[in-house]
Amino acid sequence: MLSSPMLVSLTLFLSLPLVLFFSPQILTPTYFRFSSDAEDLTLFRRATAAPHTTTHLATATNPKPKIAFLFLTNSNLTFAPLWEKFFSSADSNHNLFNIYIHADPTAAVASPGGVFHRRCFIPSKKTHRASPTLIAAARRLLAYALIDDPLNQYFALVSQHCIPVSSLRFVYNYLFKNPLVSLASFAGSNYNYNLPSFIEILSDEPNLYERYSARGEKAMLPEVPFEAFRVGSQFFVLNRRHTEVVVRDRRLWKKFKLPCVTEEPCYPEEHYFPTLLSMEDSNGCTGFTLTRVNWTGCWDGHPHLYTPPEISPELIRRLRVSNSSYPYLFARKFSPDCLAPLMDIADDVIFRD
Ligand SMILES: *[C@@H]1O[C@H](CO)[C@@H](O)[C@H](O)[C@H]1NC(C)=O
Ligand SMILES: *[C@@H]1O[C@H](CO)[C@@H](O)[C@H](O)[C@H]1NC(C)=O
Ligand SMILES: *[C@@H]1O[C@H](CO)[C@@H](O)[C@H](O)[C@H]1NC(C)=O
Repeated sequence: MLSSPMLVSLTLFLSLPLVLFFSPQILTPTYFRFSSDAEDLTLFRRATAAPHTTTHLATATNPKPKIAFLFLTNSNLTFAPLWEKFFSSADSNHNLFNIYIHADPTAAVASPGGVFHRRCFIPSKKTHRASPTLIAAARRLLAYALIDDPLNQYFALVSQHCIPVSSLRFVYNYLFKNPLVSLASFAGSNYNYNLPSFIEILSDEPNLYERYSARGEKAMLPEVPFEAFRVGSQFFVLNRRHTEVVVRDRRLWKKFKLPCVTEEPCYPEEHYFPTLLSMEDSNGCTGFTLTRVNWTGCWDGHPHLYTPPEISPELIRRLRVSNSSYPYLFARKFSPDCLAPLMDIADDVIFRD
């Protein structure tokens, strides 16, 4: 017969796995992971340590390139059900994409479940508008996705206000052109040099000089002369090679992370990526974003916010059309109550190719 101290020990011993299993959920909220400075440092060290493992590519059977979807958010992912449909439309095995979420740990962002499971949430820091924190968050997402899966060949940055305007199959085939492209053909080099990055790069904005000098007249010199300063949409789809350029960069990031000192907001996230990539490899970039935004009647730097009465099949069709030779694959911004009308036309319009 067991003595009672032994019984207590045994009970404790047996309950240990349960305690270990549940304690992370008890100790930390399920919806965020805060990244310490040390963790950031480790992340970037790992991401910049060359070369990246190509062994996975060589050993995987029939490896297919993947799209890493990078969600940058400081509120709940209202459109998660629509994205869920998007992700499940083409591929039930989830072998064409990965999802990574950077959620501001100071905002109570809940995990929507489904494809957006808890492991998608990467260690994150607080973000706020018109500050270098948005660049830092995007870089953290890119670095994390780079390390996480060598099959990630495209990296698409979106926010909680973005929606897809085509099916995943269409997006995938558009980006990789040939759906049957096999990584075996470029496994040795770790990336396909022919895939362009879709990032807007403009040099003719009226207030470009004000934004350039927002940290002080000479603050960006000598790394970034005004002639090299560019502007573009915060949302982009980068290839793996350019993602590595961004993650390795310290020269320009050192400048762009300086605070702006003027009254006007300077939106560093709209300058850092286009400037860096136009300096490093403008020929490898299309100069266009794949994310449609409506700046008509914009106010205080905010684009048009679509509301439920505006949602229609016609709107989705209009949002796909661009003035360039590229279509739009994503669109923003939509108010949270647009979810229901969007879900109503999801199968018949949005995800119908
Ligand atoms: C997100 O959703 C959760 C539960 O669904 C809620 O408790 C939380 O307040 C929401 N957060 C925000 C920022 O709205
Ligand atoms: C863009 O927004 C304006 C309102 O600011 C609206 O009248 C117009 O229809 C929108 N354009 C598209 C293509 O949705
Ligand atoms: C295309 O160009 C026209 C004329 O410049 C402009 O009014 C319209 O908003 C542009 N459409 C898009 C999708 O950029």
